[in-house]
Amino acid sequence: MKLLLVGATGLVGRHVLELALKDPRITSVVAPIRRTLPVHSKLISPIVDFDDLPESQIWWQADAVICTLGTTIKTAGSKDAFKRVDHDYPLMVARLAYQHQTPTYVLNSAMGANAQSKVFYNQVKDELEQDLQRIGFHSLTFVQPGLIGGTRDEFRLGERALALGLTLFQPILPKRWRISPAENIAKALLDSAIESKRGCHCIGSEKLANEA
Ligand SMILES: NC(=O)c1ccc[n+]([C@@H]2O[C@H](COP(=O)([O-])OP(=O)(O)OC[C@H]3O[C@@H](n4cnc5c(N)ncnc54)[C@H](OP(=O)(O)O)[C@@H]3O)[C@@H](O)[C@H]2O)c1
Repeated sequence: MKLLLVGATGLVGRHVLELALKDPRITSVVAPIRRTLPVHSKLISPIVDFDDLPESQIWWQADAVICTLGTTIKTAGSKDAFKRVDHDYPLMVARLAYQHQTPTYVLNSAMGANAQSKVFYNQVKDELEQDLQRIGFHSLTFVQPGLIGGTRDEFRLGERALALGLTLFQPILPKRWRISPAENIAKALLDSAIESKRGCHCIGSEKLANEA
């Protein structure tokens, strides 16, 4: 199976890539990126400009796309710049992959995705989910983690503080509110891509948490 992975250099994306490269069911991974990845015989990792994606590349034709792209408003610099990464790029990737007959799209979305939310982040996540549903994929899955657990290169104070609180209260928290470890998210993303179940599916944070 050919997998197209966008966001391969991120916290969740790195775990997806590691699992996919080890998995005998995956014959090749194409991971368009903006900084280099270690060489692997199953991996093609073209450097691309997400504002100007190369539309006619043969590698848009895959068996499934997994999207783990994302940023923060702080890193992006503005709400518009954040939305470009968390909505526009994943949607453009979806359109190009679909145009090239890729039947399956699996998105690393978020637990709070909701158009009615007062939080801009949650509105953007929901808008992307809605827009993806209009494309026509045979199989579409939204994996919706809570706070992602794992070690990231970038220091995010708010996430660190929240992670500390959630870890402390983990034994008494409902599963839905617990940390979603990046490895569990990656496994859910890859399993959904391989299964390619017809229709639109959601995997909630309660399925991504570890036991207390
Ligand atoms: N943080 C949380 O607790 C949380 C909770 C629920 C859902 N989520 C969502 O889960 C998804 C994955 O999260 P994550 O923590 O794995 O993300 P991450 O570590 O921040 O990685 C994001 C990926 O997106 C790429 N990216 C960022 N800005 C880009 C740009 N301008 N152009 C091209 N690529 C760009 C990064 O590439 P570079 O390596 O080149 O920067 C990286 O590959 C995101 O959509 C996030 O919103 C996060």
